Amino acid sequence: MTLKTFLASLLLAAPALAHPGHHEKVYAHSALPLERKSLAHCSAQFNEPEFVKRTVQIHGQELARLKRSLGLDTKRSKHSPRDYEEVNRIDHKSNKTVSEGMDLSTLFSDAGACMLMPAVDQGPLYVKGEEVRKDITNGEKGIPLTLAIQVVDYKTCETVPEAHVDIWSSNSTGIYVGVQGYPGMGDPNDASILQGTTLRGVQPTDEHGIASFDSLFPGHYDGRATHIHAIVYLGATAQPNNTITGGRAAHVGQIYFDQGLITVAEQQTPYNSNTMRITPNVNDFLFRQGANGDDPIVRYALVGDDISQGLFAWIRFGIDQNADKPVNPAAFWTEKGGVMNPTGPISQLPPGGFPGGGWPGFPGGRKKRAARAAAAAAAARAEQDAE
Ligand SMILES: *[C@@H]1O[C@H](CO)[C@@H](O)[C@H](O)[C@H]1NC(C)=O
Ligand SMILES: *[C@@H]1O[C@H](CO)[C@@H](O)[C@H](O)[C@H]1NC(C)=O
Ligand SMILES: *[C@@H]1O[C@H](CO)[C@@H](O)[C@H](O)[C@H]1NC(C)=O
Repeated sequence: MTLKTFLASLLLAAPALAHPGHHEKVYAHSALPLERKSLAHCSAQFNEPEFVKRTVQIHGQELARLKRSLGLDTKRSKHSPRDYEEVNRIDHKSNKTVSEGMDLSTLFSDAGACMLMPAVDQGPLYVKGEEVRKDITNGEKGIPLTLAIQVVDYKTCETVPEAHVDIWSSNSTGIYVGVQGYPGMGDPNDASILQGTTLRGVQPTDEHGIASFDSLFPGHYDGRATHIHAIVYLGATAQPNNTITGGRAAHVGQIYFDQGLITVAEQQTPYNSNTMRITPNVNDFLFRQGANGDDPIVRYALVGDDISQGLFAWIRFGIDQNADKPVNPAAFWTEKGGVMNPTGPISQLPPGGFPGGGWPGFPGGRKKRAARAAAAAAAARAEQDAE
């Protein structure tokens, strides 16, 4: 029995996978998921008996996704509207023992079938031109996070070496540095934040298609679930000043974390000093898109017994090597330091910006978020007054 027929037989016995319900609204500024086709060849390529075994053990938690990944979902070409809830229920904690300097390719032996990561908008906070560097923490405090991203071609499932992965996230207290004037991200008149590079950087993929970073678990901010942005560049040129130029953005996406992991992380210092509201994965419209048909949550393992000792997280991106996604940075990192992009998403915000942390194209809920932000600010003031 092949993997495909095996899973097909299993699926026949899993009627609970059908989801009635209305389709979620799909917002125009986020690209749709990549084309879906049979990826049975990917499982062969990655030799993942562990993954299949586990899938069977956990009785369908991952079956819906796997079903689509393997092209077994013949009846409906569209994903089920509520898949993101199922994806959110998967426990992504791995049994693997992780340690500094380990062979990162071993992390991917049960990373799952070739993931088609739906591409989404790059968001309003991208800085182009950041340095090629592994350690992007700039010595800031937070939970150490070793992040490994494996890039594979979704058609052939071959790993993609010599790509460049560019990542960025908010720091442990929920602020993105490197851009100036975004509502909720520091004092808009403080130019020093534009000179920040913390949690931004680029890494080339190795012979296994893996790019890895020494980063920090990202903090949260109002309106979004905890996430990390990533762009995969192909055909970029490495410059003597340790940056890359040219090439094309073959993939633009965002990755997420288990809600339980976020809860534990948020109890740590300095995460717990952040008074901004936490948005759970399932309430984040970009997570819902990313998790509808795919699994954009990283697998992870703790380095020690306690999360404060750090964690490893890994995920595989299935990319379309011919894609060339539009990217509009908010700012550039140059020899003169950070420079805002006059035609970038932040420069194009209306005077005063949007309340509540929205950005052009951000759908609905602006008033609600503004009200929440005002309430959070009032609560912070009340706390200060009480001291
Ligand atoms: C994790 O370890 C347990 C106990 O050793 C085992 O039963 C389980 O299959 C493992 N899970 C994975 C994903 O390897
Ligand atoms: C996060 O960045 C902001 C802006 O630079 C800074 O004020 C804050 O201290 C940083 N958080 C940590 C934990 O360093
Ligand atoms: C690095 O070099 C490129 C190409 O000459 C240039 O455009 C960029 O501004 C430089 N970046 C930095 C940080 O020096």
